[in-house]
Amino acid sequence: MSQVGFVGAGRMGAPMVRRLVEAGHEVRALGRSVEKRREVSELGAQPVTDLADVGAESDVVVVCVFTDEQVQQVCLESVLLTTMRPGAVLVIHTTGSPRTAESVAAAGADEEGPGPQAGLLATKVVYFDFDNSEIKGTGTDVVAAHAKYLAAHSGTRVRLEGHTDERGSREYNIGLGERRAQSVRRALLLQGAADAQISTVSYGEERPAAPGHDEAAWAKNRRVEIMYLTQPLAPKR
Ligand SMILES: NC(=O)c1ccc[n+]([C@@H]2O[C@H](COP(=O)([O-])OP(=O)(O)OC[C@H]3O[C@@H](n4cnc5c(N)ncnc54)[C@H](OP(=O)(O)O)[C@@H]3O)[C@@H](O)[C@H]2O)c1
Repeated sequence: MSQVGFVGAGRMGAPMVRRLVEAGHEVRALGRSVEKRREVSELGAQPVTDLADVGAESDVVVVCVFTDEQVQQVCLESVLLTTMRPGAVLVIHTTGSPRTAESVAAAGADEEGPGPQAGLLATKVVYFDFDNSEIKGTGTDVVAAHAKYLAAHSGTRVRLEGHTDERGSREYNIGLGERRAQSVRRALLLQGAADAQISTVSYGEERPAAPGHDEAAWAKNRRVEIMYLTQPLAPKR
């Protein structure tokens, strides 16, 4: 079951919403009017009034507005893309210009940049003990430096990628990677970074930094990577 966001529950969109609901997905659909929200409820979806609520937490967002100009409004001139989490998929159903689709893809791409390089900021990895998500030792100083930088550069965004070593089940390690990423996120927030600047993802044991099967390799793999993104925050509405 996926969380699906939907924009444009009109002639084409409404039957799609119904089918997605019937297939067991949780669908949140935009309703700009009371009437539309009532229709959305009748389809079995949750009506929301804001594009940010369509994007947040969704695995997939479907845009089925009528014109290419409306696609541009929804995808390029609103907060929608910035509220979608890393790895979420945007589907544009509207018949429109391929150029618009390319612009949307470029705007949505979380391209990684080099980020700041001075002093501790050049270090963008925080390491953890076995089966632990507590930030310790130099990790504390590294996180503090990044928090200070983010607080001073409010348009800058980072993605925190949580990783584990290979021991434990795949599912457990996804959870552990997430706890590590959240631990760094909380520390950044406590020290002045803003929520909108930070997204998190867990890769569990899937992307080891070191290939071996011993403690030396495991120690390198129990980590959170702080990835600086080149796409700045959209201006606040
Ligand atoms: N209809 C067909 O048989 C058919 C066949 C193939 C392809 N298509 C393509 O599918 C697309 C959708 O067509 P449709 O007939 O379903 O259109 P539609 O009935 O006019 O529905 C468009 C939906 O988009 C919403 N919308 C428009 N502008 C918006 C904006 N700026 N922000 C948020 N929501 C907005 C509308 O919301 P409100 O209700 O609040 O106005 C409406 O729910 C078109 O590109 C069309 O070419 C349609």
